[in-house]
Amino acid sequence: MLTALQDQSIGNGINSINPYPYFFRSQYNLSDIWKDIKRETDIFLDFIESPDSTYLNSALEKGGVSSVGRCRVDPPHGWKCFDDMTNNHIPSVVDKIWDMWSLKGVYRNMTESWINRHPPNATTLEHHHHNVNVAICAYLDVPEGSGNLEILNPFLTYKYAEPVDDGYEMPRQDHWIQIPVKTNDIVYFPGWLKHRTGVNNSDSNRYVMTMNVTAYGMTNIDRGYDEFNNAIGFVE
Ligand SMILES: [Fe+2]
Repeated sequence: MLTALQDQSIGNGINSINPYPYFFRSQYNLSDIWKDIKRETDIFLDFIESPDSTYLNSALEKGGVSSVGRCRVDPPHGWKCFDDMTNNHIPSVVDKIWDMWSLKGVYRNMTESWINRHPPNATTLEHHHHNVNVAICAYLDVPEGSGNLEILNPFLTYKYAEPVDDGYEMPRQDHWIQIPVKTNDIVYFPGWLKHRTGVNNSDSNRYVMTMNVTAYGMTNIDRGYDEFNNAIGFVE
């Protein structure tokens, strides 16, 4: 049986409880890696934007560029500089998420990754990551004011059964929730969660690397629940 995370204070002696947590954040020293690879990363992002490119930019990018067209050809999570993040830090976080989401015993793979560059005024439009279990954004360089991660309230459908006020959708857009992010943050969320990036209102480029972790091989079912100490499992 799952247990909720510890209470989190939201001020005035009030505690918030997350009975089924779906959004997580860790910190990792991406800055030191980024200063070594920024130059060559800019070169390949420039190429993707050029008319000669064999890789298409993403239709979701407005004013920016994404290497998503190379996400399986040359995914950055496979670069040597990201070896520790890919093989140690992120798996240690995903392991916990796997348990919280009752995926114990299901194999997982980091299947794709890419880097997005947003110059001033650029944004990424609303989308989700189809059939991906954990979408992961590693913030390589987020100048002040260069845009939050924005998620669509997953309870939106239920909100329509409540007497929300006139400003809920327009003009306040409360169905979109701002997630402030900064350099060296890594965030983790389910692929079904709709999200987008706020407009870059700074005068510098914003860089984020995104990775997909996808489940395969439902060995938890093949083996039987008994292997995971569930008394109602079947035994061969
Ligand atoms: Fe995304």
